[in-house]
Amino acid sequence: MERTFLMVKPDGVQRGLMGEVIRRFERKGFQMIGCKFLLPTVEQAKFHYAEHEEKPFFGDLVDFITSGPVLAMVWQGDQIIELSRMVIGKTKITEALPGTLRGDFALHTNRNVIHGSDSPESAEREIHNFFKEEELVSYRKLI
Ligand code: CMP
Repeated sequence: MERTFLMVKPDGVQRGLMGEVIRRFERKGFQMIGCKFLLPTVEQAKFHYAEHEEKPFFGDLVDFITSGPVLAMVWQGDQIIELSRMVIGKTKITEALPGTLRGDFALHTNRNVIHGSDSPESAEREIHNFFKEEELVSYRKLI
């Protein structure tokens, strides 16, 4: 079983898409094991996007992600990292296909509703930027 970090970004929260995002991941069969509604600090934002530090859009990324509350979540499931990125859609908005969250709801690459981890290493780093291990729920699926 794999786990990943998913975050509804400020644009997704303000457009009322939190329920839609959760619905699509539940519908797919994944399990939520952690959830927080919070305003990220600048430190959390910089740590979260550290790999983009040298990019010209880094400042905008940090400003944007700290501009309003986000829904930070941890989800688990078989191959969830690869599969959740299919539910989310491509980062570049002209490549995000209809039927994906970004394909259906986003118009701009820098306002693309949701973030999902791209590797197990990123997932662990991103999860621990927002959650303590003891805040995650461990449970067995009954159905
Ligand atoms: P996310 O999955 O959160 O990871 C990095 C983010 O950087 C990405 O979503 C986009 O929102 C943003 N991003 C990627 N490429 C660009 C770009 N060329 N211009 C502006 N923002 C970008």
